[in-house]
Amino acid sequence: MVLKWGKDYCCDTKGIKMELKVEKHETLIIRPRIKMWMARAITIVLLWTSLVQLIALGELLGPSLLRGMPYCFSSPSVDKFLAPAKAVLPPKRIYRNNGYLLVSCNGGLNQMRSAICDMVAIARHLNVTLIVPELDKASFWADSSDFKDIFDVDHFITSLRDEVRIIKILPPKIKKRVELGLLYSMPPISWSNISYYENQVLPLLLKHKVIHLNRTDARLANNGLPAEIQKLRCRVNFNALRFTTQIEELGRRIVKVLREKGPFLALHLRYEMDMLAFSGCTHDCDSKEEEELTRMRYAYPGWKEKVINSELKRKEGLCPLTPEETALVLSALGIDHNVQIYIASGEIYGGEKRMASLLGEFPNLVRKETLLEPSELMYFQNHSSQMAAVDYLVSLESDIFIPTYDGNMAKVVEGHRRFLGFKKTILLDRRLLVNLIDQYYNGLLSWDEFFTAVKEAHAYRMGSPKRRIIIPDKPKEEDYFYANPQECLQLLDEPLEST
Ligand SMILES: *[C@@H]1O[C@H](CO)[C@@H](O)[C@H](O)[C@H]1NC(C)=O
Ligand SMILES: *[C@@H]1O[C@H](CO)[C@@H](O)[C@H](O)[C@H]1NC(C)=O
Ligand SMILES: *[C@@H]1O[C@H](CO)[C@@H](O)[C@H](O)[C@H]1NC(C)=O
Ligand SMILES: *[C@@H]1O[C@H](CO)[C@@H](O)[C@H](O)[C@H]1NC(C)=O
Repeated sequence: MVLKWGKDYCCDTKGIKMELKVEKHETLIIRPRIKMWMARAITIVLLWTSLVQLIALGELLGPSLLRGMPYCFSSPSVDKFLAPAKAVLPPKRIYRNNGYLLVSCNGGLNQMRSAICDMVAIARHLNVTLIVPELDKASFWADSSDFKDIFDVDHFITSLRDEVRIIKILPPKIKKRVELGLLYSMPPISWSNISYYENQVLPLLLKHKVIHLNRTDARLANNGLPAEIQKLRCRVNFNALRFTTQIEELGRRIVKVLREKGPFLALHLRYEMDMLAFSGCTHDCDSKEEEELTRMRYAYPGWKEKVINSELKRKEGLCPLTPEETALVLSALGIDHNVQIYIASGEIYGGEKRMASLLGEFPNLVRKETLLEPSELMYFQNHSSQMAAVDYLVSLESDIFIPTYDGNMAKVVEGHRRFLGFKKTILLDRRLLVNLIDQYYNGLLSWDEFFTAVKEAHAYRMGSPKRRIIIPDKPKEEDYFYANPQECLQLLDEPLEST
C-alpha cells in the first residue's frame, strides 16, 4: 500500500472546518482546537503586528500557519485591501519591578528556544525585568550567533510588553556593578515548579537586584504549573519567537521550491557525528568509525557517560535510527517511494556512502544544499543555529514530519505542529522498531509481517490529540511540555469552551 497524497489543506469560506486528506478514502476533519484565550491572544497579536510582516509571514508559512487559528488568510486577498500600516502595540503591563534577570541559555537552538519560553514565564511571574537572553556560543555547535541574529528581537520585546518588560542591556548603574564582578550567578534546579522560583529565587533577586541564571535547560516542570504560566510558555513559543527576516526568507524559498514539485516529507535524520559520539551508538559502523566516535566522546568533558554498550543501548530504543533502518521503516510505513524527502539535519555521519541505501529506496532525497545555490547559503553556513532554524521552518511546513531520534528539535517541532492543527508527525517507537528490524533481517519475519507490525504500532503515533503522560518525580521520562502543550490546544475529547 502506498500513502496517497491529496490536497494538503483547504479552508472553507467561514474558516471553521479545514480538511486534510491524507489517504484516498480517509478525510481527517480538523476543527479549530485552540482555546478561546489563544484565539483572543492571537487576534491581539495580529493587530499589533504590522501588516507588512503579516503578509510576509503569510507568504512563507501559507495557510497552514494559520490553520490552527479561527480565520483563514490568503496573502493575495489580504494584499488587495490592506495597505501596510503602523504596528499597533499592546499596552505595557505596569508592575513594581523586583529586579533584573540575566540568563545564559545552554545547548542547541531548540533547547534554547524552549528555555527562552520558560525564562519569560518565570520573569513574568516574579515581576522582574528580563534582559534579552544570551545564547550559548560554547556548546558543541559553537555558533557565534546572538539572539538578534536568530530571532526578531524587537518583535520579541514588543509583543510581550503586556506581560513582562524585556530590555536589550542592563541599565547603566546596574551594569557597572556587574562589571565590578558583583553578579550573583546560579543554575536554577531543573524541572522546578513555580514555588521554587517564588521561594528560592525571588528573595535572592530582591537582595541582589540582579541575578544571573547560568543554565536554562528544563528549568520548569512539565506539569503542575498554573494554566496562565503554561499558556504564556506557548505564547512565547508560537507568537513572540519569530526568526529573523533573513532566516524566514530562506525557509520560504526552500518551501517554495519543494511545493512547486508537490508534497514533501521532512526527515530529521539525527545521524550526525555529535549524536553518535555522545550516545555511543555505533551500530553498523566499522571499527575505524567506532574509534573515531569514541575518541570524540572522551574529548568532551561535558558528556558524562563514557563507557557505553552500543547494542544494549540500541535495544532499549535509545539510539537514532541509522539511514538503512530509516529506509526500511519509511517503506514499511507506506511512504511513497517517489515523494520528496527533505533532510532536516546537518552533515550525515559517513556521508554519501552511508546514505546510499536510503537514496536507493527514496530517490527524491533533497537537502538545503541541493535546493539552493551556494551563494544563498553562504551567510548561514558557518552558523549551525541559523541552519537549524531554517530546518525548523521547513519541518513545520512539511506534509509529514518524521524524526529518527527524540531530541530537542524533534520534540519542539512535534509540539509546534500540534499547535498548527495536529499536522502529521510520525513518532517512531524505536525500541520496538529495532527489534522488528532485527527479526526481519534474521528471516524471522516476512516482509508482510514486518510491514503489518510497523503499521499497527504507529497507527496512534501520528501527533494527533492526546494527553501528556505524567510520571511523578521522573520528569525526564514523562511527556515533555513543549512536545504536547495540551493546555494551549483544544483536544478532541473536550467540549469547545463557550467564552
Ligand atoms: C506581581 O505584580 C502583581 C500586580 O501586577 C501582584 O499582584 C503580584 O503579587 C506580584 N508578584 C510578585 C511576586 O511580586
Ligand atoms: C553557574 O554559577 C555557579 C555559581 O556561581 C557556578 O558554580 C557554576 O559553575 C556556573 N555554571 C555555569 C554553567 O557557568
Ligand atoms: C513544588 O515543588 C516543591 C518541591 O519540589 C513541592 O514540595 C511542592 O509540593 C510543589 N508544589 C506544587 C504546587 O506542585
Ligand atoms: C566559514 O568558515 C570557513 C572556515 O572557518 C571560512 O573559510 C569561510 O570563509 C567562512 N565563510 C563565511 C561566509 O564566513
